[in-house]
Amino acid sequence: MKTIAVLTSGGDAPGMNAAVRAVVRTACKNGIKVYGVIRGYNGLINGDFIEMDLRSVSDIINRGGTILYSARSVEFATEEGMRKAIRTCQEWGIEGVVVIGGDGSFRGARDLSERGIPCVGIPGTIDNDIACCDYTIGYDTCLNTIMEMVDRLRDTSESHDRCTVVEVMGRRAGYLALNAGIAVGATAILIPEIPFDIEKHVIERMESTQRTGKKHFIIIVAEGVNVDVHELAKEIEARTGVESRSMTLGHVQRGGYATVKDRVMATRMGNYAVKLLMDNIGNRVVAAQKEEVVDYDIFEALNMSKSIDLELYDIAHEVSI
Ligand code: F6P
Repeated sequence: MKTIAVLTSGGDAPGMNAAVRAVVRTACKNGIKVYGVIRGYNGLINGDFIEMDLRSVSDIINRGGTILYSARSVEFATEEGMRKAIRTCQEWGIEGVVVIGGDGSFRGARDLSERGIPCVGIPGTIDNDIACCDYTIGYDTCLNTIMEMVDRLRDTSESHDRCTVVEVMGRRAGYLALNAGIAVGATAILIPEIPFDIEKHVIERMESTQRTGKKHFIIIVAEGVNVDVHELAKEIEARTGVESRSMTLGHVQRGGYATVKDRVMATRMGNYAVKLLMDNIGNRVVAAQKEEVVDYDIFEALNMSKSIDLELYDIAHEVSI
């Protein structure tokens, strides 16, 4: 391949810039022209490209967000939008595309690959909800951000003998909530993968820890369980008598400097993705499995399922008492 493009799509994630940098530098080093596509698949449709060189990606390895901007393209989901994107790629001589994003972005990459534009996906999402991957770029930074924020909430919660109910991101998945919940010593963790009952999993747990002298509490709720944390805090206060506060952490979780793990994995994955395209291999997803970087057929990857670590869930409940 002589010319490739790289885009970021879906919700941004810390470490995406490190992946873009690795893609651009690997391509340049191997004599491949590389275009940065602006605003995901919308940029691919409209030919919104910037030719990148070694210096275009200087000083971005540490930065959160994505210098290529991101979008969830409605137009690309239509047959007409897809055709336009293919025409644009042909006009610009683009022979392969690296797509950094989540499941939705990979579906676009699969469709493009099927229509003759080889694509390689790199998992970039804070939710860690891509089935073929143990880990996705941005997840580690996000967990650390949640931990820092909740540590701060704990200080004030403890000072006032309060219960603080915190909603963390994870549209359909509880990986962030479970792992952050363990890291902050949450009394209860509610995630979409495991059915729960407020009486048993929150109120009774609080009461049993109260009996051993505990006076302040952190409850972590995954966004995906669709529990209103503000209402839950009121209910907890009414039922237990413990003054309660609530907070939705929101998009603060998606920003910030990427951690070492996110930068290193993003760099390895970006490099790996370009090497696949150099071998004329498309329709693949790069994945992290037990610290190794591997790749899967996109179709196969999208049909895989991932389960939550039940042992981890049990440990959390056994220890946070
Ligand atoms: O997919 C990542 C994510 O941050 C989810 O955790 C969350 O539900 C969603 O994106 C929020 O999307 P938006 O930024 O469009 O509000």
